[in-house]
Amino acid sequence: MTRKLFVTTALPYANGPFHIGHMMEYIQADIWVRFQRMVGSEVNFVCADDAHGAPIMISADKAGKTPQEFVAGIAAGRAQYLDGFHIAFDNWHSTDAPENHELARDIYRALKANGLIATRTIEQFFDPVKGMFLPDRYIKGECPKCGTKEQYGDNCENCGAVYSPTDLKNPFSTLSGAQPVLKNSEHYFFKLSDARCVEFLQSWTQTPGRLQSEVLNKIKEWFVVDEQGQGGLNDWDISRDAPYFGIEIPDAPGKYFYVWLDAPVGYLASLKNLLGKRGQDFNAYMADPDVEQVHFIGKDIVTFHTLFWPAMLHFSGRKTPNHVHVHGFLQLSGEKMSKSRGTGLSPLRYLELGLNAEWMRYYIAAKLNSHVEDIDLNPADFVARVNSDLIGKYINIASRAAGFISKRFAGKLSAEVGIEGSELLAVMRAKRQTIAALYDERELGKAMREVMLLADSVNEFVDTHKPWELAKQAGQGTANSDALHDVCTVCIEAFRLLTLYLKPVLPALAAQVEAFLRIEPLKFADADRALGAHSIGEYQHLMQRIDPKQLDALFEPAAVEASPPGGEPVAAEIKIDDFTKVDLRIAKIVHAQRVEGSTKLLQLTLDVGEATPRKVFSGIQSAYQPEQLTGKFTIMVANLAPRKMKFGVSEGMVLAASHADEKANPGLYILEAWPGATPGLRVR
Ligand code: 2FM
Ligand code: ZN
Repeated sequence: MTRKLFVTTALPYANGPFHIGHMMEYIQADIWVRFQRMVGSEVNFVCADDAHGAPIMISADKAGKTPQEFVAGIAAGRAQYLDGFHIAFDNWHSTDAPENHELARDIYRALKANGLIATRTIEQFFDPVKGMFLPDRYIKGECPKCGTKEQYGDNCENCGAVYSPTDLKNPFSTLSGAQPVLKNSEHYFFKLSDARCVEFLQSWTQTPGRLQSEVLNKIKEWFVVDEQGQGGLNDWDISRDAPYFGIEIPDAPGKYFYVWLDAPVGYLASLKNLLGKRGQDFNAYMADPDVEQVHFIGKDIVTFHTLFWPAMLHFSGRKTPNHVHVHGFLQLSGEKMSKSRGTGLSPLRYLELGLNAEWMRYYIAAKLNSHVEDIDLNPADFVARVNSDLIGKYINIASRAAGFISKRFAGKLSAEVGIEGSELLAVMRAKRQTIAALYDERELGKAMREVMLLADSVNEFVDTHKPWELAKQAGQGTANSDALHDVCTVCIEAFRLLTLYLKPVLPALAAQVEAFLRIEPLKFADADRALGAHSIGEYQHLMQRIDPKQLDALFEPAAVEASPPGGEPVAAEIKIDDFTKVDLRIAKIVHAQRVEGSTKLLQLTLDVGEATPRKVFSGIQSAYQPEQLTGKFTIMVANLAPRKMKFGVSEGMVLAASHADEKANPGLYILEAWPGATPGLRVR
């Protein structure tokens, strides 16, 4: 049966390049979509940049751009990743596009008309210097429980205490450094606690086939109300105050939709934009009851997609998602990756190093299943799977047989094959339904295993019949020549079937194979047809083995894309004379103490081999306890003019490393000399 599918992946924030976790989701969805098309479904597969929100506004500001310019720059960089990994979205749009403004406002108006919008005054931290309310992640301060400095507003990294930003002691804005003030503001809420919403969502989430069972089990907990009346669904704060990069709320000047309100609407906006370009009617398409709406997402954004989003759609009179497919995270050699920065594995570097994108597609497919499990990308495993499965089992079948077909049989396959070959091919054809079902269920790992088992049986067939020996013995027209023709024809036909089964994963390779076999683009139904006495082309090399050394270069800690080292470009070139003007000496920290009245400075007493030790003030209090430093050997600038400071005179400077943007990338590291260095030695 032909299905009509509207498929999306999560919309990535337009504040940085893709990391490998993004690529995993796109590859998973792209494989699924390609499979659906191969069985005849009509698919619209769309995505967009998630353009709005405070972090993007702030990044744009730091980059000296308007938010629109900033997100346009990010958008321009997307194609190289998508094309590079053969991810074939039908459309890539933006949540800042006019369609999205219009749809988000329409949905909001409908929710309001349904009595599901409320306003409430809330008290929030406000940065008086920046003139804006501060999202929690831009507030730091001292832990209210243990006093550790520089803690975020939600929990303490030192003692684990959980609190709200207003509980922090000495809070400061990480944007301006200013002390935030509490200020009232009217916020708009989507009344998710309304009995209508609760009832609808209970039934929507529990509709069979909608969600994976582990996802549903988690969601059920969110509905539970305890004996004290605690728990259950809470109203959702959907507004933010200006300045904000987003969509203005109708009839609410200075108020904007919180980015997560208009982000999923971007799915519809991208589809609308696509259909518009084709002259199709968006409303008619969405009104078609046969259209299935399918979202691929990561496990961290389940609430948005299984509560807020379906409720927004339903209570604005729209179609709700049919399936939300949730995947786990991608880890790199067992290490978690950060959501914003990803791992050290840059997808672009992967491509730049000349690594084949389809190796990655195959590896990811081989690892994925339909559950919310994290998968691990491990270099040794990657090499083994690609070399032994793709090259050893699959590609070799063609390379072993094709030469004989062209040299001995003028490129023509045998019209019929013997009983053994026919049986093998029949078994392979019979697997079509199983493999199709596994693709459809997103059991990609199992699908790949089924295909490789078939490849194993083909290789056994080859090893039993030894075409290279038949070739040695065969003269034209003899029995051995017929046997060779038969065996090689079976191999080519088997190779065609394996290619068909792998095509959703290896689309570019499949296209090369189709050209080599001189056949039409493969569909799943073609499994039942045989090539017969068909002429094929000359075998061209199809795919390389991986040399493990190629991966070493990939996993080298490469510079973070597009940003200078340590957050600042290297300073202008100097001559050696310029450097020698700076007299650097080994200094022993004989004593370190806090400075009364300063939250930043430590006072260090340094032995530089002189008669009297130097007193130096250093802004390293946030990074070190005085006790940690005493007795250490560091490096100081010994010929820096003494500086008068509020707390006394500083007679030099110790060297420490930090990121140019210390607020966004905290961390301060004092330099330490190797053992054996003594006070007063010059550093040159
Ligand atoms: O978590 C994220 O990266 C979000 N930008 C995902 C948005 S998905 C959809 F709702 F737009
Ligand atoms: Zn603490």
